[in-house]
Amino acid sequence: MKATAWAPANIAFIKYWGKEDEELRTPLNDSLSMNMSGAFTVTTVDFDKTLKADRVELLGGEFSVREKERVTRGLDRIRKRAGCPEFARVATHNSFPRGAGSAASASGFAALTVAAFAALGASLPEKDLTVFARLGSGSACRSIPDGFVVWQRGIDSDSSYAYSIFPHDYWDIRDFLVIVDRSMKKVSTTDGMKAVKTSPFLTERLGQIPARMDAIRSALTDRDFARFGEITEEECLDMHHIMQTQDPALIYWSDTTRTIMEAVRDWRIQGFPVYVTIDAGPNVHILCEGKDAEQVREKIGELSGIIEVIENHPAPGAHVIEEHLF
Ligand code: PMV
Repeated sequence: MKATAWAPANIAFIKYWGKEDEELRTPLNDSLSMNMSGAFTVTTVDFDKTLKADRVELLGGEFSVREKERVTRGLDRIRKRAGCPEFARVATHNSFPRGAGSAASASGFAALTVAAFAALGASLPEKDLTVFARLGSGSACRSIPDGFVVWQRGIDSDSSYAYSIFPHDYWDIRDFLVIVDRSMKKVSTTDGMKAVKTSPFLTERLGQIPARMDAIRSALTDRDFARFGEITEEECLDMHHIMQTQDPALIYWSDTTRTIMEAVRDWRIQGFPVYVTIDAGPNVHILCEGKDAEQVREKIGELSGIIEVIENHPAPGAHVIEEHLF
């Protein structure tokens, strides 16, 4: 009754910001992402009939009461589906700082979902696994399929799932996740999204998403990095514009975030094909093609205010591994 899963975080190029349904975590729009090889979670789940409650442990850290409850609710949904009454011991390890806008909840719920169903010996279609992961944390559904992934908005819970559009070895895009702050963000994405409809620009944003999805899919199909990068940056700025015009306004960037954004723009003016995207936090994802990675790595080394850099290439989706955490 024990299994372990590895799951990547993912970086969205077309972002999810705003829910259609709070409970079901269905989104207001389609999104598109890439799995990250260097930012991942490993989780072991062991269903044990001697336990009187779930035991949830974060190795090298501490889950809050709210986070533990969210894991237990996820286990309850999985137990119900698999018809298993037993409590579980869960241990989890992240390769990167959580809560600072680098999607630890995505890799976390993807790993939990895959490990728990495997521990129960239940083999679900990938589509169903993405739905269970989504119910834990929306963007977690995108960490289950391989490589480059679309999460379709859908019209209800069953039709709001994620699928791979290109495998991880399709295109060597590098994502340098530049950590400038390790602390937990003050406003979680769950809470932050609740006010999305107070932004006067939301309708306009949602109206633009279908064309943007088409455009980025065709840039990926053509492996057109400049086009891909332009759409990604435009989309990032657009999502942050919504965050910053919500009531209350959500400003996730720090001075270092802005300095890095400007540096990347300067590098581009100097002829480097390099772009940024940023999630709900101050950390910056710097994107380039594999062939330019060495030069970009050097340029990043010249920046100040950086705590850590995690280099990622496109990764497979969540899967079971043999080595357990306990
Ligand atoms: O699934 P959540 O609640 O971690 O939301 C993720 C939201 C963003 O990271 C800001 C955007 C995205 O699509 O990943």
